[in-house]
Amino acid sequence: MTFPLRAATVTRRGVIFGAAAGLASLSMAANRTLAASAPRRLIAAPGRQALGYGNATRLADTWSYNGTVPGPLLRYRVGDRLEVDFQNRLDEPTAVHWHGLRPPNAMDGAAPLTQAPVEPGGSMTYAFDLTDAGTYWYHTHFRGWNQQDRGLYGILIVDERKPLQVDQDILLVLDDWVVDKNGQLDPAFGQMHEWAHAGRLGNLATINNSADAAVQLTAGERVRLRLANVANAQIFALLFSGHIPVIVAEDGNPVEPRSLGDKLLVLGPGQRVDLVLDATGAPGSTHPITAYTLTDEVRLGRFVYGAEAGGSGLVGNDVKPLDGNARPILDLANARRLDLTMEGGAMGRMRGAMMSGRMMGMRELVSNGRIWAFNGIAGDMDTPLAVLKRGETAIVDIVNDTAFPHAMHLHGMHFREIARNGEAIDGSWRDTTVLASDDRVSIAFVAEAPGKWMLHCHMIEHQAGGMMTFLEVE
Ligand code: C2O
Ligand code: CU
Repeated sequence: MTFPLRAATVTRRGVIFGAAAGLASLSMAANRTLAASAPRRLIAAPGRQALGYGNATRLADTWSYNGTVPGPLLRYRVGDRLEVDFQNRLDEPTAVHWHGLRPPNAMDGAAPLTQAPVEPGGSMTYAFDLTDAGTYWYHTHFRGWNQQDRGLYGILIVDERKPLQVDQDILLVLDDWVVDKNGQLDPAFGQMHEWAHAGRLGNLATINNSADAAVQLTAGERVRLRLANVANAQIFALLFSGHIPVIVAEDGNPVEPRSLGDKLLVLGPGQRVDLVLDATGAPGSTHPITAYTLTDEVRLGRFVYGAEAGGSGLVGNDVKPLDGNARPILDLANARRLDLTMEGGAMGRMRGAMMSGRMMGMRELVSNGRIWAFNGIAGDMDTPLAVLKRGETAIVDIVNDTAFPHAMHLHGMHFREIARNGEAIDGSWRDTTVLASDDRVSIAFVAEAPGKWMLHCHMIEHQAGGMMTFLEVE
């Protein structure tokens, strides 16, 4: 089936269900304990991680933070200070980026733009105040097409001052892996063919490292589901059969609670969504969680109900909005307008682009690992897309003039989508937005913090292949 990226029009009725539930109960339980924890030390090193294949588990060689994929859950309360001593025990340089958070520029981890990469054996302290509550994540920002795909990422939660009333707080981390028949990660990273297409797409999609995740619910509970798509390039459109979740935050930012209705929940690479879900199923029942990806329709997991009912009586109550994060005021009338046209890739119209200050043809670009461009420039990080004054409002009119979807991510600032395909919209504050082929999206933000802030496609192979630039705020 073709990928339902324009998910607003895809309804439950238009969807065919995947394989029936009822696989062996050996699959890994998906619920992770979300106890408050803020380890001081983060060590990037090779390790091994169990990946669950329904009724079997295999140990894959990965790269990870503190030995697990995802790395340790970093959990704080808004207003806390993050302080992490990072050590690099890989045999290549790396850096840690705090996706969706708004640290000072020097702490952003976007090597080599905002810091020198941390060399093998080296270390660095990341420290900054956490001003925004929500669900975030951290990941390598150096050779991510290799490092992130091997597992160098983790989840970071900043709790609201006034916590949301739920019976369970459940984290669902979406990834996809390219594995061989022995369950090892396919070592063929950096293939131009993948880079020029949709990126490195996996053949094993997982929730919390399981291809058949059992998410344990108790009938009568109200739960908060935190979803994060940490895949390099995959888009997930999820269907929670038998349940109608309410969206309460997107990319960490609280939204006016709205029911998902019978739509699919679409998460592009880098995006997060927080849901409130009432466990209205019967004790003992199971309900599939289906994902439509760019390549496949898979049953990713199940809600598995325990035999007893329970919960604290919250089910059916109105879902209250989360505590808001402080937001700047957009001055749209006087905004600085910037154009950003995405070009290149397979079946693209690009014939050549600027790289290292000169025009190169496609053949030369490919031999330099660059096949995508913004405004005719293939990933040169010497010149900013624009220099903005601190406090100024900017609007970037993004045009996806390629044959592929992309997930545009801005560092250091949150934006609001104000128009999509010619229609004015009142989008939520986000840090990453998905554009289908030919989409035109306008994003607006206030240039809040000084420094160099990356703006790139979060399909990491596209980023590495030229879809990256930055904004400089003076
Ligand atoms: Cu999630 Cu530039 O990154
Ligand atoms: Cu892309």
